[in-house]
Amino acid sequence: MGFRYLLLSIFLLYLLGGGVVVEVLGLAVNWGTRSTHPLPPSIVVRLMRDNGFNKVKLFEADPGALTALGNSGIEVMLGIPNEFLAPLATSVRTAEDWVSQNVSSYVSKYGVDIRYVAVGNEPFLKTYKDTFLQTTLPALKNIQAALIKAGLGRQVKVTVPLNADVYETDSDVPSGGEFRSDIHALMISIIKFLSDNDCPLTINIYPFLSLNADPNFPLDFAFFSGASSPVVDGSISYTNVFDANYDTLIWALEKNGFPSIPVIIGEVGWPTDGDPNANLEYARKFNQGLVNRIMRGQGTPKRSTPPEVYLFGLIDEDAKSIQPGNFERHWGIFYYDGTVKYSLALALNNSNNNNNRTLVPAKGVRYLARQWCVMAPEASTLDPNLPQSINYACTYADCTSLGYGSSCGRLDARSNASYAFNAYYQTLNQQKGTCQFSNLSVITTINPSQDTCRFEIMIDLGKHEKTRNPSTSSAARELANTVMAVLLSLLSSIICAAV
Ligand SMILES: *[C@@H]1O[C@H](CO)[C@@H](O)[C@H](O)[C@H]1NC(C)=O
Ligand SMILES: *[C@@H]1O[C@H](CO)[C@@H](O)[C@H](O)[C@H]1NC(C)=O
Ligand SMILES: *[C@@H]1O[C@H](CO)[C@@H](O)[C@H](O)[C@H]1NC(C)=O
Repeated sequence: MGFRYLLLSIFLLYLLGGGVVVEVLGLAVNWGTRSTHPLPPSIVVRLMRDNGFNKVKLFEADPGALTALGNSGIEVMLGIPNEFLAPLATSVRTAEDWVSQNVSSYVSKYGVDIRYVAVGNEPFLKTYKDTFLQTTLPALKNIQAALIKAGLGRQVKVTVPLNADVYETDSDVPSGGEFRSDIHALMISIIKFLSDNDCPLTINIYPFLSLNADPNFPLDFAFFSGASSPVVDGSISYTNVFDANYDTLIWALEKNGFPSIPVIIGEVGWPTDGDPNANLEYARKFNQGLVNRIMRGQGTPKRSTPPEVYLFGLIDEDAKSIQPGNFERHWGIFYYDGTVKYSLALALNNSNNNNNRTLVPAKGVRYLARQWCVMAPEASTLDPNLPQSINYACTYADCTSLGYGSSCGRLDARSNASYAFNAYYQTLNQQKGTCQFSNLSVITTINPSQDTCRFEIMIDLGKHEKTRNPSTSSAARELANTVMAVLLSLLSSIICAAV
């Protein structure tokens, strides 16, 4: 206990020392690391602290992230990926090893303030069919038993982050809330286990996906300003989908005998690119509405106690699967490099408190040279090699901003090709031979960015000087080299951090 207070005061001192006098807001955020060029963990931790985030959710026990979080004053919810559920379900020993290696050691050796272990990630998502139905609860029980055995039972709670599709309403209003019939008994068993052990239920709510799934969905209702088209449920008038969705869950819990189990919102946010409804304006509007509620300590009509809310997410991830859609790589409130996407006020403007605290960018980020790979001026857009060159570039680099309604969706054919070439060139660390698309490309020092479309320069991972093979080897080999180099550097940074 004393240790936690110490950490808290360090956090307060840190804020005060930085000249920013604010109350600790308790903002929480998800930190995903599916990036070709992840920001160094120490920079990410500083970014979170500079912006008043004191809680973070990780999707896996990433050693770099965990060590950087040691003695940072930031509380951690540590995720276990779904593929671990089966082994953890079948063997107590495996669960004990997991806890020992991924929880106990970080708590005791590095001073990481782990508060929750999130077992699985949306394991009952409809698209996973029934893959994780048998293993989630046994894995949850084994992890809980292992935490108790490790003496961490009081300090570290277990939970299972579930998608909001585990409940539904057949009457279109929250009071019709009930758990999905195919998993009803399982849901009750899990909730009972959590409740018996003083653990919270975790739900991910995505108003963006509601809007995306239904072209007739009222736009204002997705934000926190839908008074024009409220959903009327008895005496309650719902003006936003967040409240309506959350209260659907609270109704379902109440009907099944768990009216007061604590609920955490494990993920909620709005993407900025990769879809016509994903842009800076909408994301700012949604996230500001959300942050305002968090700062006001606002609950919902059905439950006045506010839930703990983890924003999704901190930074963009250019290597995330785009199976759900191109927007998947653009959920960050910061770009991939920790620069600010839009202004987000992090303090309430009340009369006697005039601080306009807003997001601040990451500090100390190192970039590659200020140069871009673009289509050569003399090359023709009718060149027969062009389509396959673009296709090749976009196979290895992130081109999700080029789609319809996205930030670079209005580029002409020439700029479109340039965007793809540059994405590839940057992703491969501007290495020699990575801007040679059948003689259609050339390196420039003039920034080709236009309007909303950003031609990025990648984070410097120290890869560009190390090109061993100056002659143009096949691009596949280049990529393999890069991947190897990234792995090696990750490994060395892990080893360095561990020393
Ligand atoms: C710790 O977690 C990592 C990442 O989730 C995993 O690869 C590793 O196997 C875990 N350790 C044990 C002993 O299970
Ligand atoms: C730009 O490139 C993308 C990705 O290759 C492609 O889908 C789109 O049709 C292109 N647009 C134009 C105008 O060439
Ligand atoms: C690129 O240009 C060089 C020099 O003009 C030429 O030798 C080479 O064959 C060209 N390569 C391709 C793929 O067109």
